[in-house]
Amino acid sequence: MRRIVLPDVPAVAERAAELLLRQRLETPERCLGLATGGTMEPVYAALARRVRSLPVAERQRLQRQWRSFNLDEYVGLGADHPGSFATVMRHRLIDPLDLDGEKVQLPDGRAEDPSAEARRYAAALRRAGGIGLQLLGLGRNGHLGFNEPPSAVDAPCRCLSLRTVTREHNAAAFGGRPEAVPPRAITLGMAEILAADRILLVVTGTAKADVLQRAFAEPPTPDLPASWLQRHPAVLLLADAAAVVP
Ligand code: GLP
Repeated sequence: MRRIVLPDVPAVAERAAELLLRQRLETPERCLGLATGGTMEPVYAALARRVRSLPVAERQRLQRQWRSFNLDEYVGLGADHPGSFATVMRHRLIDPLDLDGEKVQLPDGRAEDPSAEARRYAAALRRAGGIGLQLLGLGRNGHLGFNEPPSAVDAPCRCLSLRTVTREHNAAAFGGRPEAVPPRAITLGMAEILAADRILLVVTGTAKADVLQRAFAEPPTPDLPASWLQRHPAVLLLADAAAVVP
């Protein structure tokens, strides 16, 4: 794992945005893997600023060639629900970058059969050639996407139940009520994540310091899904000073 520690969140967001933009402009044939969560909000804001300042022709090329797959979505929520990741992506990425929404893929939370939808989504990603650069945040319990502990190293894209701690942490988008957070989600699995050419793990804030430290210090285990990143040959950790144990 390569590690870059920057002083604060704005510096991390700028560097992450720079790497995402470079991926889109330099290797447009490879899909970008995208994440949601509070950590990513400043990253998408920085990305939008950078895209706005591109020369028009380059911005149009970026829009034309955009291809991304998000990690996950809540079961039961569609693009019309304010708490869905589809809504987050519309507000943070599709509208600000003026992208064609069809080019920003997410699992369909409204699908009648979520397990079948997980299989469809995984197949769509395979057909698109898999992921070039995968952006990842880190859950407080060590989850990646919604790969909750325990998750095997080869866990596939699937529908699963969310842990209480995750629903509590994500309650802000649901009026602060953990019980309003959907109990299930569809997520790309560890298998699809680890198959990415490169991984960009973005971690900020003291609340993540302990779990981040454990993810790379202890032998990989299903009980800490992020620890499987030790098995990937090209992980870049971008962290702020607060997230790194001195
Ligand atoms: C959610 C997402 C994850 C994300 C995690 C961390 O559960 N499914 O992909 O990494 O939250 O969120 P935050 O950045 O808000 O700490």
